[in-house]
Amino acid sequence: MDIFPPPDQLLNPFPFYAQMRKFHPIAYDDKNKIWGIFRYNDIQNILTNHRHFSSDFQKLVNFQQGQMREQGQNQVHETNQSVRRSLLTSDPPYHKQLRSVISSAFTSNTIWKLRPRIEEICHGMLDKVIEQGRMDLINDLAYPLPVTVIAELLGIPPDDRDTFKRWADELIGSTTSSSSNLPTDSKSEQIFKRVQNEMDSYFIDIIEKRRMKKVSSKDLISNLLKAEIDGNKLAEEEILAFCSLLLLAGHVTTVNLIGNMIRSLLEYPNQLEQLLLLSHNYNPDKHKLDADNYPSISSAVDETLRYRSPVQALIRFATEDVVIGDQKIQRGQRLIIWIGSANHDESVFHDAERFDIARSFSKNAHLAFGYGIHFCLGSALASLEAQVVLKIILDRLKDVGFADEYKEETLRPLYGIFFHGVSQLPLSFKPAKMRALS
Ligand code: HEM
Repeated sequence: MDIFPPPDQLLNPFPFYAQMRKFHPIAYDDKNKIWGIFRYNDIQNILTNHRHFSSDFQKLVNFQQGQMREQGQNQVHETNQSVRRSLLTSDPPYHKQLRSVISSAFTSNTIWKLRPRIEEICHGMLDKVIEQGRMDLINDLAYPLPVTVIAELLGIPPDDRDTFKRWADELIGSTTSSSSNLPTDSKSEQIFKRVQNEMDSYFIDIIEKRRMKKVSSKDLISNLLKAEIDGNKLAEEEILAFCSLLLLAGHVTTVNLIGNMIRSLLEYPNQLEQLLLLSHNYNPDKHKLDADNYPSISSAVDETLRYRSPVQALIRFATEDVVIGDQKIQRGQRLIIWIGSANHDESVFHDAERFDIARSFSKNAHLAFGYGIHFCLGSALASLEAQVVLKIILDRLKDVGFADEYKEETLRPLYGIFFHGVSQLPLSFKPAKMRALS
């Protein structure tokens, strides 16, 4: 059974998910040898149960190698030999130690202090296009904003953003264009290794320069160089894994969030109108990251996360034979967890197929940032960036709409099936009379 949305439905996989939730909520894909999980409750249970559903794919490789040896197959496929462990691909107790090294940099309070700088960057990007009365939201704002923010946080040159974009396109675009092309197939592995080597060389160079400068700096890379686990400094491999993860996770997802948010608001003009009415009352210090103040900028961001989740799917594998529902998952089998489907589960969300910014937070328990121990470290940052963009667009632009050349059928997905977003979003607008000062 195919557990992937058909390629021509990537920008609207929701009818496919609805069918799967109803008829095949836990389905096995024989061709790709992977389970697909579609219902909210099953997904939440799996993400909570990290003991039985692991993120550490090195363990899976070891298990598969053991199996092959037992079957007398000594030649293990070359590309299957090692998986680099990072925060995302590790289990406790190592995961907890790694996470503690960096988590303080991403608390809501720390992130909130970045707001003025994020606003400044966003204003600067809008200044470049405002007089033209049109922009491509993705290339003019949704991509450059988060990539600049994460580059500044890491302490690397934001001007290298074209290189970062190529890495992201190659790494993510290469692995997800079709259902037969999973991240673990050999072609994707080759691309993955080449790009990883390039990223490593880039970061090794930066790390060397930091060490030679011997000046204490506050950026994330400098913090990683100082960090210790049980009195030991992080190994270079660990620092490199962190840098690549933060750089990529720090922007590819947020591009989609910003693009999906504006696209959804334009498709639901009544929701945009409500926001416009309310935006002049928006007090960022009061609302902070609390989304319970419906319908507000922050609840619009949360509803986008639910309705068009930037990350659609996560992968785990079973560490033991486990039963979910009426299906037995065998030890070593992989699972694709469709959080994009969970977030449309009608048993959890009322009128789930409707974009409704008035859902209060307690009724919008989406899983867009994951759940459990791997809950997104950058959730506060991503939400803040999207809130800033929305607030500034509402303040500085009026009559925002899809540009003439916009046609739904010409939209192209950005980053493939594990993600959800568009590669371009042409908009037209007029400058609002006043530029609001925040
Ligand atoms: C809209 C934007 C974002 C979305 C939808 C998103 C989504 C997610 C999800 C679903 C996970 C869980 C992965 C899993 O369970 O396997 C995750 C983990 C993670 N995210 Fe995000 N993310 C976003 C933005 C960011 C940003 C801006 C950063 C960094 C600055 C970031 C850094 C991370 C890291 C480091 C992890 C791994 C956490 C762990 O394994 O403990 N993310 N993210």
